[in-house]
Amino acid sequence: MLSPKQIVEALDKYIIGQDEAKRTVAIALRNRYRRSRLSDEMKEEVIPKNIIMAGPTGVGKTEIARRLAKLVDAPFVKVEATKFTEVGYVGRDVDSMIRDLVEASVRLVKSKWEEKVRVQATAAAEQRIIDILAGSPRHEREEADQQLSNLQKLFGMFGNQKSTEVATVSEEEKAQKRFRREQIARDLADGKLEDRNIEIEVTEQNTGNDQMIAMGIDINMNEMFGGLLPKRTKKRKTTVKEARRILENEEADKLIDMDEVIREAVDKAEQDGIVFIDEIDKIAASGAGHGPDVSREGVQRDILPIVEGSVVNTKYGPVRTNYMLFIAAGAFHVARINDLIPELQGRFPISVKLNALTLEDYKRILTAPQNAIIKQYTALLEADNIHIEFTDDALNEIAAACFNANETSENIGARRLHTIVENVLEDISFNASGDYEMLTVTIDKTYVLEHISGKKNENVNKYII
Ligand SMILES: Nc1ncnc2c1ncn2[C@@H]1O[C@H](COP(=O)(O)OP(=O)(O)OP(=O)(O)O)[C@@H](O)[C@H]1O
Ligand SMILES: [Mg+2]
Repeated sequence: MLSPKQIVEALDKYIIGQDEAKRTVAIALRNRYRRSRLSDEMKEEVIPKNIIMAGPTGVGKTEIARRLAKLVDAPFVKVEATKFTEVGYVGRDVDSMIRDLVEASVRLVKSKWEEKVRVQATAAAEQRIIDILAGSPRHEREEADQQLSNLQKLFGMFGNQKSTEVATVSEEEKAQKRFRREQIARDLADGKLEDRNIEIEVTEQNTGNDQMIAMGIDINMNEMFGGLLPKRTKKRKTTVKEARRILENEEADKLIDMDEVIREAVDKAEQDGIVFIDEIDKIAASGAGHGPDVSREGVQRDILPIVEGSVVNTKYGPVRTNYMLFIAAGAFHVARINDLIPELQGRFPISVKLNALTLEDYKRILTAPQNAIIKQYTALLEADNIHIEFTDDALNEIAAACFNANETSENIGARRLHTIVENVLEDISFNASGDYEMLTVTIDKTYVLEHISGKKNENVNKYII
């Protein structure tokens, strides 16, 4: 479990500035861990302090959520509050975020288990592949034995003449078979047989039917009918390589106790779950009005019990939301936090402001994050044998262009950097074809100015997301 400092450091790799938001989030996360160390009695009393993040468009709110999701070893979902105001969704299905959270938790816990049984599953899969390659599929042998013994029972035959096949196999043949299997095992280990085609029998998954899923009915048929639905198996031709992957998963599934996984996952979702509700300002009623505002408030009222703590039914059983951490975010440039219904505001005791980005921020966003725009374009163009280099004042110029455009026309934050860099590199991007030797192109201030001036007005909206 990361300390608050470590969480902030990890976020720093991707998000420039917004220190306050990062700190707040880091503390909230660490508090989950702190709470887990308490006695059960004490634990019951400590409920998470939900957070609301407010700040202009394109300054990193969603980005923080996205990075957080990758960082934490906790079930995490991100939903857009506006999803619940869509026609046909009003007044229902806010529970779906909790169902998604449990689903995420199951995936998380299951993959932990898969890691634990991986070695065993790999070995079992390898044996099955050897069986197939050696032409003595185990199940066929067993089936033959089974049929024989059924017949024997039917006709009242007993005795030690079990399987005639087994009886007639001489020692020599056995040794030969063993030798052959060892040979195959060696070839497999050497990777000689990876592309060989084999036929495997795979169990088909029988989960619900598509129509019901399309209608939004969230029932797992297998869960409902227990194992009643017959498991269908299907023969499939694939390469050894692919077969290994399929069989490994199948063997792993056999080794995993799904009941235990589900119990653990539900518990993890209840205790460690984090729900990120983005665009929450879009469901705040701004000013007086009818129509959409009514449904927006309706959505707030629907969300309220979940944030307050209630029990949501999922296909894995009832799940309590009392101890989940909710982080909400929104631009709040039309509506304000105060426009949310008071009950909901009350459930988000911590509010943190994200700052508008400065000129200096824009410059750093261009190059510093691990996924920085300039890094991305450099890598992309390198695929076509062009190595681009930006001089320092070229970067200054791009940042300034972004800052000024945000000041004079609509402020879309760091998103505008994409537009500008795209414009600057358009000619190079278009002309690069990879037909030449590696070529270094230095982009300086003049180049930047030439490529963004004139385009400023006409093109600026072209790449806005
Ligand atoms: N502080 C930042 N550091 C690094 N990159 C940033 C920062 N802010 C924004 N970006 C970049 O800008 C893009 C948009 O940011 P993000 O999605 O976080 O906006 P937002 O704050 O959620 O805005 P909105 O209110 O419109 O949803 C991201 O893809 C990210 O790359
Ligand atoms: Mg966002």
